Amino acid sequence: MEYYAVRGGHPLEGAVAVHGAKNSALPILAAALLAEGESVIHNCPDLTDTAGALEILTSLGCRVTREGRTVRVDTTCRQGWAVPDRLMGQMRASVLFLGSLLARSGRAEACWPGGCALGSRPIDLHIRAFQALGAQVLDREGRLFCRADRLRGRHLALPFPSVGATENTMLAACGAEGVTILDNAAREPEITDLQGFLRSMGAEVSGAGTSQIRIRGGLPLHPGSYTVMADRIVTATYLCAVAAAGGEGELLGADGTMLAPVVDTLRLAGCQVEQRPDRLWICRKDPLQPVGTVITGPYPAFPTDAQPLLAAVLAAGQGESRIVETIFDQRFRYTQELKKMGAAISVEGSAARITGRPLRGAQVEAADLRGGAALVIAALAAAGDSRIHGLEHLDRGYESLDQDLAALGAGIQRTTR
Ligand code: UD1
Repeated sequence: MEYYAVRGGHPLEGAVAVHGAKNSALPILAAALLAEGESVIHNCPDLTDTAGALEILTSLGCRVTREGRTVRVDTTCRQGWAVPDRLMGQMRASVLFLGSLLARSGRAEACWPGGCALGSRPIDLHIRAFQALGAQVLDREGRLFCRADRLRGRHLALPFPSVGATENTMLAACGAEGVTILDNAAREPEITDLQGFLRSMGAEVSGAGTSQIRIRGGLPLHPGSYTVMADRIVTATYLCAVAAAGGEGELLGADGTMLAPVVDTLRLAGCQVEQRPDRLWICRKDPLQPVGTVITGPYPAFPTDAQPLLAAVLAAGQGESRIVETIFDQRFRYTQELKKMGAAISVEGSAARITGRPLRGAQVEAADLRGGAALVIAALAAAGDSRIHGLEHLDRGYESLDQDLAALGAGIQRTTR
């Protein structure tokens, strides 16, 4: 059983390059199915989630190769339309393959994606969008069967700006004749990255990054070539690591403009953060300050994925702050583990009240990806030694968290018991 051994309580100093964005790479890999031939995706992070997406492509007959961070997906021998149950259960983003399979084959089949550690995660908005484009979607004994002899573009609106439903609608709409206009679309930068890849395939897509996305579908697409942007949640993780432990760090290739609410909150907490030409710089020398109330929301609001990371910083600081979580109904489970390090956090419904105080090292267990990263951040700030178990959750979204944090000057090692 592997764990991270962390020696905390001392300031960080160093520089690290931020790897490509998981949440861009996953829809882009699904989009590769839309054309026949070999697409090339650069800066594709090597994570268990991206490996899962590559496995889905392989199971559909595609030839997949990885050389470093460049992935080639050749769809020439593609066949079938079913996403394997095991991968659908492991990774919720597998649902993105339904949109591209529908567009390409007029059929898609998968088991119902399981719930996850963040609470219930329905896919009704994805299904309603497919139906609006003319697909039939049947749920038979826990299996979803999607079928469309012909998809037709139309004007539709999401009741909530879901990231996944926006991406799935874009993918399906590429195979729909005519123009699809999607209102109340999610505006996350990863959606703009998907648009960039689709355009590299010859798709006519515009509006990503705004609430209205327009897709002219039914055009023959060719293989694409694209470089995935730097991961903004990994960036937030390293910013929060330096904020919590103190010291100074440079995040190479990171873009702070996509993380404005996180950067603003860390400044309020007493950090200096500067965007430099090809890097983001952070420094904290003075004690952390409370930040009032932070509310998560769809982009450009404070990202829910950075919520646990900030909570770890505030728990190691001083004074009282509040975090209100509006996206997922059970995203405070990690606070139970933070309490083992001495954190003073009380959760009531969707709000957590955090009173900063010195933390101490402890043995803790990650139960989800960003909750696990929060435990690592807290361990860096805590006096003494910590052990963080449950690394399979962290490996879903961080290529080599231990080596990256060590480059920032942290005392952390991946260890086998
Ligand atoms: C994506 C990100 C995830 C991030 C989340 C919110 C990927 C692979 N994952 O997840 O890291 O935390 O955005 O920024 O990009 N909902 C429904 N019905 C649906 C779809 C969503 O009710 O059909 C609800 C969800 O339960 C949740 C909210 O909408 O409460 C937001 O979910 P959504 O934006 O869809 O998140 P994901 O795409 O799953």
